[in-house]
Amino acid sequence: MGVSVDKVINGVCITVTGELCDEIEIEEFFNILDQQITTEAQVTFLDASTLEAAIIEKLADIQSARKLEISVVKSYLYSYMYKLGIRCKYNPMRNMSSGIISKKLQSAEVKLGREEVLYFLENINKKYGYDYTEYQVDSIMRRIKISMLRANTDDFTGFQNLVLENDSYFEQLFLDFSINTTEFFRNPEVFQVVKNKVLLHLNFYSHIRIWCIGCSTGKEPYSLAILLEEAGLLHRVQIYATDINPYVIEEAKNGMYSMDDIEEGIQNYRKAGGENSFTSYFELKGNYIKIKQGLKKNILFFQHSILGNGIINEFHLILCRNVLIYFNNSLQKKVLRYLSDSLDKNGFLVLGKSGGILQNGGYNYFTKYDEINKIYKKKELV
Ligand SMILES: C[S@@+](CC[C@H](N)C(=O)[O-])C[C@H]1O[C@@H](n2cnc3c(N)ncnc32)[C@H](O)[C@@H]1O
Repeated sequence: MGVSVDKVINGVCITVTGELCDEIEIEEFFNILDQQITTEAQVTFLDASTLEAAIIEKLADIQSARKLEISVVKSYLYSYMYKLGIRCKYNPMRNMSSGIISKKLQSAEVKLGREEVLYFLENINKKYGYDYTEYQVDSIMRRIKISMLRANTDDFTGFQNLVLENDSYFEQLFLDFSINTTEFFRNPEVFQVVKNKVLLHLNFYSHIRIWCIGCSTGKEPYSLAILLEEAGLLHRVQIYATDINPYVIEEAKNGMYSMDDIEEGIQNYRKAGGENSFTSYFELKGNYIKIKQGLKKNILFFQHSILGNGIINEFHLILCRNVLIYFNNSLQKKVLRYLSDSLDKNGFLVLGKSGGILQNGGYNYFTKYDEINKIYKKKELV
């Protein structure tokens, strides 16, 4: 980990190795950037897949004032910067996809068998501790094919070896497995019911515990925080916001979004019955927006897989929206049991609009509260 500076004609090249998350290193990096006011600077991030909000803000500020070329090696960081309107070059020089693509493969050329895929998933779990063995296998197979195309190979045995022997290939496969689609106030009618009905029940508690599972880049927990703030409850609430994917958790902590996100948010917020100005919850920074600090302070973001063992708390409300759909039926059943065990005896569960609990034995643990919006109450177990 570190920051190194090389002088080149008319300027400097700053190379950042490691994740740059240590405060002293960040300070050192900022000092170096501040010294280069008159010379042209080029910064290359070699290993980072995400960057802290303070670093991104600094880069954006400098770019608006003077010439600063930014290069990134990781595709995840490139997409993130691009979303936020920060000009940068994708330079996969140390990345596994940097090999010359010798032939263009078509996804149809890649043939996979279920048994060998399951064996591969077991090996991934043994090596990296991520268990995909009970995810929907068809979807996993599609995603493996995408990752194989990215690695420019149609040889599944060779690809398995690459992933199991090289962290970078696993990282890319992990990202290909991860579907992080989300919106502010997604399915606004659900938020309307939470606001008008569920909060009345939660108001009863002096300290309200909420768990947002599979929170992705944070739009769902921040929507909840806005709702709770407007109901005058936020100061009594602790929201746990978790996701298996550590990169989306870093994005969520940053709370920085694109201008397109705000447009979509405005529409959904109105449909959810919001009466304030949605943009008043953000600092507007030119090319991007940043959630205001006051909405962050009651949210604890951390990486967590819902498939790990152990109850982390007893919650009054759990949102697990658009996560179970990626699991097979037997895993959905186990997770529903786990969610029930993680709820207070009068707790509520909100699932995604396309998910349901009927087919998965969920009625052993939950009763209907609002079936249309997939809101359930914990059933008292006898
Ligand atoms: C489609 S997004 C849903 C985001 C948000 N809940 C919503 O509905 O807008 C699904 C999220 O679930 C996360 N996820 C998948 N498997 C998980 C697991 N085992 N534990 C926790 N999160 C998981 C993914 O990383 C992804 O961010």
